[in-house]
Amino acid sequence: MHPRVDAIVREAREALAAARTGADLEQVRVRYLGRQGELTRLLRSLGSLPAAERPLVGAAANEAKRELEAAVDARRADTTAEERRRERAGARLDLTLPGRRPAAGSLHPLTRVHDEIVSIFAGLGFSIAEGPEIESDWFNFEALNIPPEHPARDMQDTFYLTESLLLRTHTSPVQIHYMKAERPPIRIIVPGRVYRRDADITHSPMFHQVEGLAVDRNVTMADLKGTLELFAREMFGPRSKIRFRPSFFPFTEPSAEVDVLCFLCGGDGCRVCKQSGWLEILGSGMVHPQVLRNVGYDPEEMTGWAFGMGIERVAMLKYGIDDIRLFFENDVRFLRQFA
Ligand code: DAH
Repeated sequence: MHPRVDAIVREAREALAAARTGADLEQVRVRYLGRQGELTRLLRSLGSLPAAERPLVGAAANEAKRELEAAVDARRADTTAEERRRERAGARLDLTLPGRRPAAGSLHPLTRVHDEIVSIFAGLGFSIAEGPEIESDWFNFEALNIPPEHPARDMQDTFYLTESLLLRTHTSPVQIHYMKAERPPIRIIVPGRVYRRDADITHSPMFHQVEGLAVDRNVTMADLKGTLELFAREMFGPRSKIRFRPSFFPFTEPSAEVDVLCFLCGGDGCRVCKQSGWLEILGSGMVHPQVLRNVGYDPEEMTGWAFGMGIERVAMLKYGIDDIRLFFENDVRFLRQFA
Protein backbone atom coordinates (compact mmCIF):
# COMPACT_ATOMS: atom_id res chain seq x y z
CA MET A 1 0.00 0.00 0.00
CA HIS A 2 0.90 3.61 -0.44
CA PRO A 3 2.23 5.34 2.75
CA ARG A 4 -0.44 8.10 2.63
CA VAL A 5 -3.23 5.59 2.14
CA ASP A 6 -1.70 3.51 4.90
CA ALA A 7 -1.77 6.43 7.32
CA ILE A 8 -5.39 7.19 6.55
CA VAL A 9 -6.42 3.55 6.98
CA ARG A 10 -4.61 3.25 10.32
CA GLU A 11 -6.19 6.41 11.63
CA ALA A 12 -9.63 5.34 10.43
CA ARG A 13 -9.30 1.91 12.08
CA GLU A 14 -8.37 3.49 15.40
CA ALA A 15 -11.32 5.84 15.20
CA LEU A 16 -13.58 2.89 14.36
CA ALA A 17 -12.35 0.91 17.33
CA ALA A 18 -13.06 3.85 19.60
CA ALA A 19 -16.60 4.38 18.28
CA ARG A 20 -19.19 3.44 20.97
CA THR A 21 -22.45 4.40 19.39
CA GLY A 22 -24.09 4.52 16.00
CA ALA A 23 -23.59 8.28 16.05
CA ASP A 24 -19.81 7.92 16.71
CA LEU A 25 -19.61 5.49 13.85
CA GLU A 26 -21.39 7.79 11.45
CA GLN A 27 -18.92 10.55 12.31
CA VAL A 28 -15.99 8.28 11.42
CA ARG A 29 -17.64 7.21 8.19
CA VAL A 30 -18.23 10.80 7.09
CA ARG A 31 -14.72 11.83 8.09
CA TYR A 32 -12.97 9.18 5.96
CA LEU A 33 -15.49 7.91 3.42
CA GLY A 34 -17.91 10.82 3.03
CA ARG A 35 -18.02 13.13 0.04
CA GLN A 36 -15.55 15.47 1.78
CA GLY A 37 -13.83 12.51 3.47
CA GLU A 38 -10.08 11.99 3.42
CA LEU A 39 -10.04 8.99 1.12
CA THR A 40 -12.51 10.56 -1.26
CA ARG A 41 -10.40 13.71 -1.40
CA LEU A 42 -7.27 11.63 -2.05
CA LEU A 43 -8.99 9.82 -4.92
CA ARG A 44 -10.11 13.14 -6.39
CA SER A 45 -6.60 14.56 -6.21
CA LEU A 46 -5.03 11.69 -8.13
CA GLY A 47 -4.72 13.98 -11.17
CA SER A 48 -2.14 16.16 -9.40
CA LEU A 49 0.19 13.20 -8.79
CA PRO A 50 3.02 12.20 -11.10
CA ALA A 51 1.62 9.88 -13.81
CA ALA A 52 3.73 6.96 -12.59
CA GLU A 53 2.25 7.07 -9.11
CA ARG A 54 -1.37 7.48 -10.11
CA PRO A 55 -2.31 3.80 -10.78
CA LEU A 56 -0.61 2.61 -7.61
CA VAL A 57 -2.10 5.20 -5.30
CA GLY A 58 -5.47 4.92 -7.07
CA ALA A 59 -5.58 1.13 -6.65
CA ALA A 60 -4.45 1.36 -3.02
CA ALA A 61 -7.02 4.05 -2.21
CA ASN A 62 -9.86 2.12 -3.84
CA GLU A 63 -8.94 -0.99 -1.96
CA ALA A 64 -8.66 0.95 1.26
CA LYS A 65 -12.12 2.40 0.61
CA ARG A 66 -13.70 -1.06 0.21
CA GLU A 67 -11.84 -2.30 3.24
CA LEU A 68 -12.98 0.62 5.42
CA GLU A 69 -16.56 0.34 4.16
CA ALA A 70 -16.59 -3.30 5.24
CA ALA A 71 -15.00 -2.39 8.58
CA VAL A 72 -17.64 0.28 9.19
CA ASP A 73 -20.43 -2.22 8.46
CA ALA A 74 -18.88 -4.79 10.77
CA ARG A 75 -18.49 -2.23 13.53
CA ARG A 76 -22.07 -1.05 13.04
CA ALA A 77 -23.34 -4.49 14.01
CA ASP A 78 -21.20 -4.32 17.16
CA THR A 79 -22.28 -0.88 18.23
CA THR A 80 -26.02 -1.54 17.76
CA ALA A 81 -25.73 -4.69 19.84
CA GLU A 82 -23.79 -2.77 22.46
CA GLU A 83 -26.29 0.08 22.46
CA ARG A 84 -29.15 -2.37 22.96
CA ARG A 85 -27.31 -3.94 25.86
CA ARG A 86 -26.74 -0.57 27.48
CA GLU A 87 -30.41 0.35 27.04
CA ARG A 88 -31.56 -2.88 28.58
CA ALA A 89 -29.16 -2.48 31.50
CA GLY A 90 -30.46 1.04 32.15
CA ALA A 91 -34.09 -0.05 32.15
CA ARG A 92 -33.50 -3.10 34.30
CA LEU A 93 -36.09 -3.70 36.99
CA ASP A 94 -34.64 -2.89 40.39
CA LEU A 95 -36.51 -5.10 42.81
CA THR A 96 -34.95 -3.38 45.81
CA LEU A 97 -36.67 -0.04 45.04
CA PRO A 98 -39.58 0.74 47.38
CA GLY A 99 -42.93 0.33 45.57
CA ARG A 100 -45.21 3.20 44.71
CA ARG A 101 -48.17 3.00 47.07
CA PRO A 102 -51.55 4.17 45.81
CA ALA A 103 -52.81 7.02 48.00
CA ALA A 104 -55.48 5.45 50.20
CA GLY A 105 -58.46 7.56 51.19
CA SER A 106 -60.51 7.15 54.35
CA LEU A 107 -64.09 7.67 55.46
CA HIS A 108 -64.97 11.16 56.65
CA PRO A 109 -65.43 11.23 60.46
CA LEU A 110 -69.08 12.27 59.98
CA THR A 111 -69.64 9.32 57.64
CA ARG A 112 -68.15 6.99 60.23
CA VAL A 113 -70.32 8.29 63.05
CA HIS A 114 -73.39 8.32 60.79
CA ASP A 115 -72.77 4.70 59.75
CA GLU A 116 -72.21 3.66 63.34
CA ILE A 117 -75.43 5.28 64.61
CA VAL A 118 -77.48 3.91 61.74
CA SER A 119 -76.09 0.38 62.10
CA ILE A 120 -76.81 0.27 65.85
CA PHE A 121 -80.48 1.10 65.24
CA ALA A 122 -80.67 -1.13 62.17
CA GLY A 123 -79.53 -3.94 64.47
CA LEU A 124 -82.55 -3.18 66.70
CA GLY A 125 -84.93 -3.57 63.76
CA PHE A 126 -85.31 0.10 62.80
CA SER A 127 -85.57 0.90 59.11
CA ILE A 128 -83.99 3.94 57.45
CA ALA A 129 -86.25 6.72 56.17
CA GLU A 130 -85.44 9.98 54.43
CA GLY A 131 -87.27 13.17 53.59
CA PRO A 132 -86.86 16.39 51.59
CA GLU A 133 -84.45 19.13 52.65
CA ILE A 134 -86.81 21.79 51.30
CA GLU A 135 -89.90 21.72 53.47
CA SER A 136 -93.14 23.57 53.83
CA ASP A 137 -93.81 25.51 56.99
CA TRP A 138 -96.51 22.97 57.83
CA PHE A 139 -94.19 19.92 57.89
CA ASN A 140 -91.26 21.66 59.57
CA PHE A 141 -93.32 23.50 62.21
CA GLU A 142 -97.13 23.37 62.31
CA ALA A 143 -97.63 19.62 62.12
CA LEU A 144 -95.02 19.32 64.88
CA ASN A 145 -97.18 21.50 67.10
CA ILE A 146 -95.19 24.69 66.52
CA PRO A 147 -97.79 27.26 65.37
CA PRO A 148 -96.79 30.61 63.76
CA GLU A 149 -95.55 33.13 66.32
CA HIS A 150 -94.82 30.31 68.77
CA PRO A 151 -91.69 31.23 70.74
CA ALA A 152 -90.24 27.78 70.00
CA ARG A 153 -89.62 28.97 66.42
CA ASP A 154 -86.85 31.16 67.79
CA MET A 155 -85.02 28.02 68.96
CA GLN A 156 -84.24 27.31 65.30
CA ASP A 157 -83.35 30.35 63.24
CA THR A 158 -84.66 29.44 59.82
CA PHE A 159 -83.53 29.93 56.22
CA TYR A 160 -86.75 30.81 54.34
CA LEU A 161 -86.97 30.29 50.56
CA THR A 162 -90.45 31.81 50.24
CA GLU A 163 -93.05 32.72 52.84
CA SER A 164 -94.06 29.09 53.23
CA LEU A 165 -91.02 27.15 51.94
CA LEU A 166 -87.83 26.74 53.94
CA LEU A 167 -84.73 24.62 54.44
CA ARG A 168 -85.68 22.12 57.13
CA THR A 169 -84.25 23.06 60.52
CA HIS A 170 -84.41 19.50 61.85
CA THR A 171 -85.15 15.95 60.72
CA SER A 172 -88.38 15.88 62.76
CA PRO A 173 -90.63 16.71 59.74
CA VAL A 174 -89.76 13.26 58.36
CA GLN A 175 -91.76 11.86 61.33
CA ILE A 176 -94.79 13.56 59.81
CA HIS A 177 -94.13 12.35 56.24
CA TYR A 178 -93.62 8.80 57.43
CA MET A 179 -96.61 8.63 59.78
CA LYS A 180 -98.86 10.01 57.03
CA ALA A 181 -97.62 7.49 54.48
CA GLU A 182 -97.42 4.40 56.70
CA ARG A 183 -99.33 2.84 59.59
CA PRO A 184 -97.94 1.55 62.92
CA PRO A 185 -95.97 -0.37 63.97
CA ILE A 186 -93.35 2.23 63.05
CA ARG A 187 -89.67 2.01 63.91
CA ILE A 188 -87.51 4.34 61.85
CA ILE A 189 -84.19 6.08 61.94
CA VAL A 190 -83.87 9.23 59.82
CA PRO A 191 -80.42 10.59 59.03
CA GLY A 192 -80.12 13.79 57.03
CA ARG A 193 -78.87 17.32 56.47
CA VAL A 194 -80.51 20.21 58.30
CA TYR A 195 -80.01 23.98 58.09
CA ARG A 196 -80.00 26.87 60.55
CA ARG A 197 -78.84 30.46 60.46
CA ASP A 198 -76.08 29.92 62.92
CA ALA A 199 -72.29 29.81 62.61
CA ASP A 200 -69.58 29.63 65.26
CA ILE A 201 -67.16 27.00 66.51
CA THR A 202 -69.97 24.65 67.58
CA HIS A 203 -72.62 25.63 65.01
CA SER A 204 -72.59 25.24 61.25
CA PRO A 205 -75.35 26.56 58.92
CA MET A 206 -75.61 23.03 57.52
CA PHE A 207 -75.25 20.06 59.81
CA HIS A 208 -76.56 16.52 60.23
CA GLN A 209 -79.14 14.99 62.51
CA VAL A 210 -80.51 11.54 63.11
CA GLU A 211 -84.15 11.30 64.11
CA GLY A 212 -85.63 8.22 65.74
CA LEU A 213 -89.33 7.38 65.89
CA ALA A 214 -91.26 4.43 67.31
CA VAL A 215 -95.07 4.37 67.22
CA ASP A 216 -97.33 1.47 68.09
CA ARG A 217 -99.91 0.38 70.65
CA ASN A 218 -98.55 0.51 74.21
CA VAL A 219 -95.21 2.12 73.39
CA THR A 220 -93.92 3.70 76.60
CA MET A 221 -91.17 5.92 77.89
CA ALA A 222 -89.55 2.78 79.36
CA ASP A 223 -89.02 1.55 75.77
CA LEU A 224 -87.38 4.86 74.93
CA LYS A 225 -85.09 4.62 77.93
CA GLY A 226 -84.11 1.02 77.25
CA THR A 227 -83.42 1.72 73.58
CA LEU A 228 -81.26 4.76 74.28
CA GLU A 229 -79.36 2.95 77.05
CA LEU A 230 -78.48 0.19 74.62
CA PHE A 231 -77.51 2.76 72.00
CA ALA A 232 -75.17 4.54 74.45
CA ARG A 233 -73.43 1.30 75.40
CA GLU A 234 -72.89 0.38 71.75
CA MET A 235 -71.77 3.87 70.80
CA PHE A 236 -69.69 4.93 73.78
CA GLY A 237 -68.66 1.64 75.40
CA PRO A 238 -70.16 -1.00 77.73
CA ARG A 239 -69.67 1.10 80.88
CA SER A 240 -71.62 4.01 79.44
CA LYS A 241 -74.60 5.39 81.39
CA ILE A 242 -77.36 7.79 80.42
CA ARG A 243 -79.62 10.11 82.38
CA PHE A 244 -82.86 11.87 81.45
CA ARG A 245 -83.36 15.55 82.29
CA PRO A 246 -86.84 17.11 82.00
CA SER A 247 -86.99 19.50 79.07
CA PHE A 248 -89.41 21.02 76.60
CA PHE A 249 -90.11 20.38 72.93
CA PRO A 250 -93.47 21.34 71.38
CA PHE A 251 -93.75 17.97 69.62
CA THR A 252 -93.17 15.74 72.65
CA GLU A 253 -94.87 15.45 76.05
CA PRO A 254 -93.19 14.70 78.36
CA SER A 255 -89.84 15.79 76.88
CA ALA A 256 -86.35 14.97 78.05
CA GLU A 257 -82.81 15.80 77.21
CA VAL A 258 -80.52 12.81 77.41
CA ASP A 259 -76.96 12.98 78.73
CA VAL A 260 -74.28 10.26 78.58
CA LEU A 261 -71.71 9.82 81.31
CA CYS A 262 -68.60 11.65 80.16
CA PHE A 263 -66.45 8.95 78.56
CA LEU A 264 -63.31 11.02 79.01
CA CYS A 265 -63.36 11.38 82.80
CA GLY A 266 -65.94 8.70 83.61
CA GLY A 267 -68.06 11.24 85.47
CA ASP A 268 -65.37 12.86 87.63
CA GLY A 269 -65.54 16.15 85.73
CA CYS A 270 -63.15 17.41 83.06
CA ARG A 271 -62.71 20.05 80.39
CA VAL A 272 -64.88 18.21 77.80
CA CYS A 273 -67.92 17.83 80.11
CA LYS A 274 -67.27 21.25 81.67
CA GLN A 275 -66.80 19.62 85.09
CA SER A 276 -70.37 18.27 85.11
CA GLY A 277 -69.46 14.62 84.45
CA TRP A 278 -72.21 14.41 81.78
CA LEU A 279 -72.48 15.18 78.06
CA GLU A 280 -75.78 16.20 76.48
CA ILE A 281 -76.32 14.18 73.30
CA LEU A 282 -79.96 14.33 72.26
CA GLY A 283 -83.51 15.55 72.74
CA SER A 284 -86.38 13.13 73.10
CA GLY A 285 -89.83 12.47 74.48
CA MET A 286 -93.23 10.88 73.98
CA VAL A 287 -94.82 12.00 70.71
CA HIS A 288 -97.29 14.78 71.57
CA PRO A 289 -100.98 13.70 71.20
CA GLN A 290 -101.56 16.72 68.96
CA VAL A 291 -98.80 15.54 66.58
CA LEU A 292 -100.48 12.12 66.39
CA ARG A 293 -103.84 13.79 65.66
CA ASN A 294 -102.18 15.94 62.96
CA VAL A 295 -101.33 12.77 60.99
CA GLY A 296 -104.71 11.17 61.62
CA TYR A 297 -103.76 8.83 64.45
CA ASP A 298 -105.89 8.36 67.58
CA PRO A 299 -103.66 9.15 70.59
CA GLU A 300 -105.94 6.94 72.75
CA GLU A 301 -104.98 4.01 70.57
CA MET A 302 -101.36 4.75 69.51
CA THR A 303 -98.44 6.11 71.45
CA GLY A 304 -94.90 6.75 70.41
CA TRP A 305 -91.55 8.17 71.30
CA ALA A 306 -89.02 10.14 69.31
CA PHE A 307 -85.55 11.51 69.61
CA GLY A 308 -83.19 13.69 67.61
CA MET A 309 -79.43 14.02 67.82
CA GLY A 310 -76.72 15.93 66.01
CA ILE A 311 -74.12 13.81 64.20
CA GLU A 312 -71.48 16.57 64.39
CA ARG A 313 -72.00 16.87 68.14
CA VAL A 314 -71.57 13.12 68.69
CA ALA A 315 -68.47 13.09 66.44
CA MET A 316 -66.96 16.09 68.26
CA LEU A 317 -67.43 14.40 71.63
CA LYS A 318 -66.23 11.02 70.42
CA TYR A 319 -63.04 12.33 68.78
CA GLY A 320 -62.39 15.34 71.02
CA ILE A 321 -62.82 17.87 68.18
CA ASP A 322 -63.42 21.41 69.41
CA ASP A 323 -64.24 23.26 66.17
CA ILE A 324 -67.18 22.10 64.00
CA ARG A 325 -65.73 23.87 60.94
CA LEU A 326 -62.95 21.27 60.72
CA PHE A 327 -65.55 18.81 59.37
CA PHE A 328 -66.24 20.96 56.32
CA GLU A 329 -62.84 22.40 55.41
CA ASN A 330 -61.59 19.11 53.95
CA ASP A 331 -58.03 19.65 55.14
CA VAL A 332 -56.40 16.26 54.48
CA ARG A 333 -54.18 16.67 57.54
CA PHE A 334 -57.36 16.60 59.63
CA LEU A 335 -59.12 13.89 57.62
CA ARG A 336 -56.12 11.53 57.52
CA GLN A 337 -56.32 11.08 61.27
CA PHE A 338 -59.49 9.04 60.81
CA ALA A 339 -57.93 6.52 58.41
N1 DAH B 1 -85.90 18.40 66.55
C1 DAH B 1 -85.16 18.71 67.75
C2 DAH B 1 -84.04 19.71 67.41
O1 DAH B 1 -83.69 19.81 66.30
C3 DAH B 1 -84.54 17.50 68.35
C4 DAH B 1 -85.57 16.59 68.89
C5 DAH B 1 -86.00 16.69 70.19
C6 DAH B 1 -86.15 15.62 68.08
C7 DAH B 1 -86.95 15.86 70.73
C8 DAH B 1 -87.11 14.77 68.58
C9 DAH B 1 -87.51 14.89 69.91
O2 DAH B 1 -87.69 13.82 67.85
O3 DAH B 1 -88.44 14.05 70.41
O4 DAH B 1 -83.52 20.33 68.30
